[in-house]
Amino acid sequence: MRVLSGIQPTGNLHLGNYLGAIRNWVRMQDEVAAKGGQSLYFLADLHSLSDHMTREARRDALTDMAAALVACGIDSTKSVLFNQARVPAHAELCWLLNGTARMGWLNRMTQWKDKAGKNRDGASVALFDYPVLQAADVLLYQTTHVPVGDDQKQHLELARDIAVKFNADTGREVFTLPEPTIPPAAARIMSLRDGSAKMSKSDPSDMSRVNLTDDADTIAQKIRKAKTDPEPLPGDVAGLEGRPEAKNLITIMAALDDRSADAVLAEYGGANFGPFKAALAERLVVALSPIRERYLGLRRSPEIDAILIDGATRAGALAAPTLAAAYDALGLVSGR
Ligand code: TYM
Repeated sequence: MRVLSGIQPTGNLHLGNYLGAIRNWVRMQDEVAAKGGQSLYFLADLHSLSDHMTREARRDALTDMAAALVACGIDSTKSVLFNQARVPAHAELCWLLNGTARMGWLNRMTQWKDKAGKNRDGASVALFDYPVLQAADVLLYQTTHVPVGDDQKQHLELARDIAVKFNADTGREVFTLPEPTIPPAAARIMSLRDGSAKMSKSDPSDMSRVNLTDDADTIAQKIRKAKTDPEPLPGDVAGLEGRPEAKNLITIMAALDDRSADAVLAEYGGANFGPFKAALAERLVVALSPIRERYLGLRRSPEIDAILIDGATRAGALAAPTLAAAYDALGLVSGR
């Protein structure tokens, strides 16, 4: 069992990242180690090229996001934690896979379509090629499981398509086919301002998300102001149909408590949003404040750099055999 996942170090870690992905990374660490497997988690800093950032902002975002992952419970004695740019094999394999990936496949990616919008000619090549780099991230380590939120499913299907075609074209079994591991309950946490948009780092409104760095007052204010509708909460999940904002808040509560949405509605059904929102805010503060405290202690500490440097050395060693096999399968002689 080899588990790998990544996060873009741009902006804050938010509740969607946490419930959709990071909490599962932390939970899987022990399970994977017990099975004699290996977990790798990384900061996708090369992926951040598709967003404009200053040099300073990019550097700070990397170490801040790494500190946030450690604060959430990613333990460098159990998992390999590193940043992508420190392991050149990622960029190298991306280039090799560029020979396999098809323009038509990339043109169908919803993230590309959403982010490029109408101005495709003005979008960067990095944005278009983003899913090929993501395929390289995964395939480089013979990854078997990729814990991600629902929005990454299409990119992982593409990684599988690339692996299948590369293996078939070269007649060698160079790559393992990875499986996405998507949490059943919190795969898609939505914006607090609009139940039809996912909670996202790039939403211009900070009121749309709960950041893991928000203090108790900010969390309470964001939940109090979260968009809802005038009806009281329904008694069961069927009653959430057509009420995306209510559904999202119930999903968050259920995920935090590790119970079903029906169990949450059995408690709050029939009530107005007021008391439910107060309970949700309290529950969020209990879950997030220890993470925030740890984060503030770790932020900008040399310990974080040391973890990333050590992680990159270990990741580079794990990647080397697959990269060598990929070069060789293509008949290329690398200078490595
Ligand atoms: P990123 O940085 O957008 O998000 C990191 C993880 O958080 C999940 N996520 C969510 N889950 C539920 N609800 C939400 N609102 C929400 N928003 C984000 C994402 O699904 C993801 O699991 N392309 C990736 C980074 C990446 C990667 C990889 C992932 C690069 N290479 C290889 C896996 C394997 C990304 O931008 O994630």
